[in-house]
Amino acid sequence: MTESINRKLPTWDEYYKNEKIEKMPWYNENLDLDLEDELNAMHLNNGIFLDLGTGPGTQAMELAKKGFDVIGSDISGTVIERNKIMYETQYHNIKFVVDNILYSDFKENYFDYIFDRGCFHVFSEDRPKYYNQIKRILKQKGILFLKCFSIDEPMKDDPYRFSQNDIHNIFSKNFHINVIKKTVYQGTLDPLPKALFSVMKLIK
Ligand SMILES: C[S@@+](CC[C@H](N)C(=O)[O-])C[C@H]1O[C@@H](n2cnc3c(N)ncnc32)[C@H](O)[C@@H]1O
Repeated sequence: MTESINRKLPTWDEYYKNEKIEKMPWYNENLDLDLEDELNAMHLNNGIFLDLGTGPGTQAMELAKKGFDVIGSDISGTVIERNKIMYETQYHNIKFVVDNILYSDFKENYFDYIFDRGCFHVFSEDRPKYYNQIKRILKQKGILFLKCFSIDEPMKDDPYRFSQNDIHNIFSKNFHINVIKKTVYQGTLDPLPKALFSVMKLIK
């Protein structure tokens, strides 16, 4: 794993206050293609989905359109307030809440599915806290869909990068790993950053 990030960034909330959301590197209007393919292959279209670190809320909204009951959570109150105004009024099956995954207030065994596109890969020493919270809030046999940067991505800035072995080593204690595949992170960067997409079932 690349453990080289040691820079002072604006907080996530400051970032969402000051920058245009559509210009953010991770902004992706459509549902992540790897998630879309996987949901189709698994014939999934209902249940409670957490879009963790929802940011612009586009992924949460696309999941709600597919028929899931969706909660989009983020540490930034600014982006959550924006999403409430933009999306909660349009869809009855979507809710946005402020929640820090490292100290999450979600109930135990609550979610059938969690999608994390870009939150896990910002943590280093807090990774065990993240892992324990995911394990706590996901139901037994619940599925974590994870997209993170890959060690194949040459860009020097953050976030952390992972190999397929890293993902295996971090998650295999409590997860049955169905897929860890090489892909890209769809957003506004050109070229798109190299990424990994994993599908993992929780066995508590
Ligand atoms: C790279 S962005 C990805 C946004 C979104 N998932 C997407 O695909 O458009 C990472 C997001 O994680 C959120 N985040 C960072 N730390 C967090 C934490 N401890 N708990 C919850 N969300 C967090 C940030 O505010 C940001 O919106």
